[in-house]
Formats: sequence, C-alpha cells, structure tokens
Amino acid sequence: MRVIITKDYEEMSKEAARIVVNRLKEKPDLVLGLATGSTPLGLYRELVRIHKEEKLSFAEVRTFNLDEYIGLKPDDPASYHYFMFENLFNHIDVRKENIYIPDGLAKDPEKYCQWYEEQIEKAGGIDLQVVGIGRDGHIGFNEPGSSLASRTRVKTLDEQTIKDNARFFPRLEDVPRFAITMGVGTILEAKELLFLASGTEKSDIVAKAIEGPVTSLVTASIMQIHPKVIAVLDEEAASSLQRKDYYRYAEEQARRFEGGFV
Ligand code: F6R
Repeated sequence: MRVIITKDYEEMSKEAARIVVNRLKEKPDLVLGLATGSTPLGLYRELVRIHKEEKLSFAEVRTFNLDEYIGLKPDDPASYHYFMFENLFNHIDVRKENIYIPDGLAKDPEKYCQWYEEQIEKAGGIDLQVVGIGRDGHIGFNEPGSSLASRTRVKTLDEQTIKDNARFFPRLEDVPRFAITMGVGTILEAKELLFLASGTEKSDIVAKAIEGPVTSLVTASIMQIHPKVIAVLDEEAASSLQRKDYYRYAEEQARRFEGGFV
C-alpha cells in the first residue's frame, strides 16, 4: 500500500483529485467507483473545479457507487443518489446512463444486487474505486464481521454507523437500518483503490486498517491484500500509524525518483 500523508483535509482532497485526474487522462472511459459521506466531498469539489476551469471531461466515464440506503427515494436529501447528484454529477458532464448507484427501492433486492454486479462486470470492472472508512472499520457498508468474500447485497447497519450517519437525517430514528452495499470481495476486484481518511476520530481505525491484522472485524483491513492501493490521509487521520515516518520518507523518495508518478 502506498501511503501519502497530507497536511490537512484540503490537501488530501487535492491529492486525491490529482490521482483521479491522472487516471482519467490515461483512460477517458475510466470506470470509476465512488463513495459518499463527508470524506470525499473535497475531492468532488476539486473535480468539479477542474472540470469547469480546465475543461476536464467525464463524458466517457462510467461510475458505480458503493452503496445506498434501503427505503429512501432518490430525491430524498439523505439518499446517496441525492448526495451524488448534488455534490458531483449535476456539475460535470457525466452521462446519466453511465451512472450506477444501488437502488434502495428495488423490489427484489437479491436479484437487483446480482444485476448490479453484472453491470460492473459488463463495464469491464472498476478501474479506480474511491473508499472511505467508518469508525467501526467498514468500507462500503461492510460492517464488522462481513465476509471478506462478500458480494453486493443487503447489509444491516451497525449501531455505531447509524449514530455516525444520523447527522444527515432529521432524527436518529430516521436513519435506515439497512443498505445495499458492494461486498468486500466486489471492492477487492477493483483494479486500484483510492482510500481516503481525514480527522483524529479516524486515526485509530485507520491504523488498524493499514497496520493491524487482516480481519473481518475491520473490513477495511482487507485492503492490505490488494495489489494496488493508494491511501491519502491527512495528518490527523495518520497520527496513530506506527510507520508514518517511513511512509513520509518512502513518498519523498518516490517523488524524487519518479517525479511524482501517480
Ligand atoms: C459511503 C461509504 C462509507 C463511508 C464511511 C465514512 O459511500 O461507503 O463506507 O465512506 O462511512 O463516512 P464519512 O466519510 O462520512 O466519515
């Protein structure tokens, strides 16, 4: 895993955007996996800015979101559909038919989840998947104890996740108890992962995910077995890492050597 430690959230977001933009320039029809939540907001703002100011096009890009709550309509302000259109899709030239977000209102969720997997496969797999991490170590909504081979499916949200996400809802009781999420196995199949984390409240779980044992109790730890992961963390999120001096040193060397190769 390549670990890039940035000064703050702003710099983390710019670094992440630089990586996405580079991949997009290499492959204009990039298949991009996306996440919601507070962490990638700065990345999306930066992508919108680059699209507007530097005319970067997303016209050929296909996107797949990690997850969506069960039971929320796409126009519900707390839904991940709404979040994605509000914060990214409405401001770039991505084509509507190229956007995939799990349907939280699917009549037959099991069948639907299989269909979602098939769409990823048909697109040729995800080239670059953006992931955040929950305080309980989840990626997507793969809560502790999820199978590390799991595929897209319905998952019951952990109490911690419900509390953490209550900030997006009028009341705690309004947070859905279930979500459709790509599985750990689905996420692992992305060709590259871009892992973002920010803030001290994430530092302990980030250290467990990057340096702890690979365990279903911290599903993000599975990233350790993925061949191509770039973790972009701000100082605060990186503060509990044992090897942070090494990561800084390695990054400095890599940039000197390769002139910033990501
Ligand atoms: C969201 C997702 C979640 C979040 C995680 C962190 O699509 O998959 O795993 O990345 O809950 O959320 P924030 O960024 O709000 O701390």
